[in-house]
Amino acid sequence: MPHDHSVINSHHAHSEGLVEMLELDAATTGAYLDEIPAWIADRVECAPELIVDLGAGTGAGSIALARRFATASIRAVDASTAMLDHVAQRAEERGLASRIRTVLCDLDDGWPDAVTGADLVWASSSLHEVADPDRVLRDARDALRPGGLLAVIEMDVLPSFLPHDYPASAPGLEQRAHDALARLGWNAHGDWAHNIENAGLELIGRKTVTAESRGPATLAYARAWLTRLAAALPGHVDARDIDALETLLSDDAELRRVATTVRGSRTAVLARRPEDPSPQTRSAPRAAHDVTHEGEDHD
Ligand SMILES: C[S@@+](CC[C@H](N)C(=O)[O-])C[C@H]1O[C@@H](n2cnc3c(N)ncnc32)[C@H](O)[C@@H]1O
Repeated sequence: MPHDHSVINSHHAHSEGLVEMLELDAATTGAYLDEIPAWIADRVECAPELIVDLGAGTGAGSIALARRFATASIRAVDASTAMLDHVAQRAEERGLASRIRTVLCDLDDGWPDAVTGADLVWASSSLHEVADPDRVLRDARDALRPGGLLAVIEMDVLPSFLPHDYPASAPGLEQRAHDALARLGWNAHGDWAHNIENAGLELIGRKTVTAESRGPATLAYARAWLTRLAAALPGHVDARDIDALETLLSDDAELRRVATTVRGSRTAVLARRPEDPSPQTRSAPRAAHDVTHEGEDHD
């Protein structure tokens, strides 16, 4: 079942704020944007020519994939014109406009007709947003050429900014906020592996990338994220926790002192559309390995 992420983000609302959040997320915990395409590159026999970025958002994935796979055309699919405008602008600024094309499509209404014969479908933090992920997975399988790859990437944990002992008067504020979001249905998504196999794809690997970052983008991300928390949580956590969040957000020096680091983690599940009707005959998947990335905010 898809999780209800509308508390924090949705393509139906908050586009402006979501654009900012996605940009800050990519700038801080975006190590996966380098690591996962590199990992996929090690697992393809031929360089992908057509890549679909499903629920492309601001295009961080489209740009990363275009850079890693230098001859590929990218179709950035999203239901939000605001997001796709952003993708087009980013692609233009980076000299990638001829290779990254936007496709306006609400996947809840069906798969975009023109998007077929893909070598790679990339779905990052988007599968949990659609109404019927199993149908979208089947459509993705049909849109892949035989042997083509599907990569589904989700956050393992919500981004965290505050020390566990914050605030001194009632330690554990951020954990209580995350627990409340989980109860509301906004949660780091679990494992899509079973759904992917049910859609007729064979699993070939899994990779987790953790990231930790400090710097100006981290502070801006903390401000944007904690502001959303403070708006989303009244009635779901103790009023003293909302007060503590609002007090922190009203004191820039204190926010700077406390929210120095952001931590995040994502896992990619990689699968292949079988070339023949008996996937059991294929060779065993290669072992996946975990990567930890620590660093400063990056562009
Ligand atoms: C959380 S964002 C992730 C964006 C990007 N893939 C990333 O990892 O940063 C989810 C994106 O999926 C898009 N989306 C949500 N539901 C959709 C649907 N039914 N059809 C197409 N796009 C959808 C939203 O507009 C948003 O841009």
